Amino acid sequence: MSKIFIDACFGKKTPYTPVWMMRQAGRYLPEYMQIRKKIGNFLDMTKNPEIVAEITLQPVRRLDVDAAILFSDILNLPMEMGLPLRFEKGIGPVFDKTINSEKDIEILDESASEKISYVYEGVRLIKNDLPDNKALIGFCGSPWTVSTYMVEGRGSKQYAKIKKMVYANPSLLHKLLNKVTNQTIKYLSKQVESGADAVMVFDSWGGALEREKFFEFSWEYMKKIAKEIKTNYPQIPVILFSKGVGLYMEGMDGEFDVLGVDWNTPIDYALEIFNDNYTLQGNMEPTRLYSKVATKEAVTKIAEIMKGHRHIFNLGHGILPDVPVENAKYFVDLCKEVTRR
Ligand code: CP3
Repeated sequence: MSKIFIDACFGKKTPYTPVWMMRQAGRYLPEYMQIRKKIGNFLDMTKNPEIVAEITLQPVRRLDVDAAILFSDILNLPMEMGLPLRFEKGIGPVFDKTINSEKDIEILDESASEKISYVYEGVRLIKNDLPDNKALIGFCGSPWTVSTYMVEGRGSKQYAKIKKMVYANPSLLHKLLNKVTNQTIKYLSKQVESGADAVMVFDSWGGALEREKFFEFSWEYMKKIAKEIKTNYPQIPVILFSKGVGLYMEGMDGEFDVLGVDWNTPIDYALEIFNDNYTLQGNMEPTRLYSKVATKEAVTKIAEIMKGHRHIFNLGHGILPDVPVENAKYFVDLCKEVTRR
């Protein structure tokens, strides 16, 4: 059976525009919160293949989205490379050990992509239960975004430490980025070998960099990952998503299939730049989900702009934890309804 999400990734004609939501496997779902309460700890949830599969499938059952995204986190890989990770209430992810020197990079574990087998087992379990017409998206963080956490130790407003590296010690940073990139390629390849139907690279902090440095320190590495996957698995769509870099779009090229458009970037602007060279994914402002009226307004407008073009519906960033499930369902149903041909 054909998967409408995969067809749309490759720009093939589909009966309607497929839809899924970033962070769809998460806290706005009561069935997710129930499991979290039982397990107690987010990271423990990501390390348990049965739970990974269950949470990945929850939004598919509840919302009938066209794609599932693996339940995990972009920081599991650097954790397995040797940086103990914890999630702190009110702060988010924290690495107590950070990368400051050549030596710190040298001791990073290059067998991390093998140690992270709970992800691959999760993928296999998901594929056993996922309906044939739905796709499973595997994912990773971009080397730049992952490295910001490895260097800063936590989410940051200024990115003072890593940006100091950008300008004062670029060769050290490139060393780190290369190591993370090599592990990431192996990690995504194994997700594909285990059954992922598509892969997505999340570059949430690309927008922390000026244009020239964005291409040097983030996009080049994303491109390398995409090229490697496309060379070895041409049938697997690759989705690249950088947040906060709409004005740099003109320079974005490479061997990938889908470009995620964040909510700060008008999708008609992105369409003008890329035409139909790539499928555009996005980009409703996630906060619109608090209002059905605001949701309808945006869905209608995006559908109108993207009519006849390569498109996958999504939000322009992750869904927020207190969005009513009913509104999420309304969004998904509406995207399909207004684009049905
Ligand atoms: O999209 C999905 O549903 C799949 C799973 C997924 C998670 N994180 C689960 C998660 C994906 C694709 C991610 C990506 C991720 N993780 C990114 C890139 C995308 C983005 O949102 O910009 C980043 C930067 C992270 C790092 C991370 N993980 C942060 C900053 C946080 C805490 C902030 C927050 O939203 O609370 C997490 C925790 C996290 N990752 C949760 C989930 C469901 C919440 C855990 C919980 O409290 O139960």
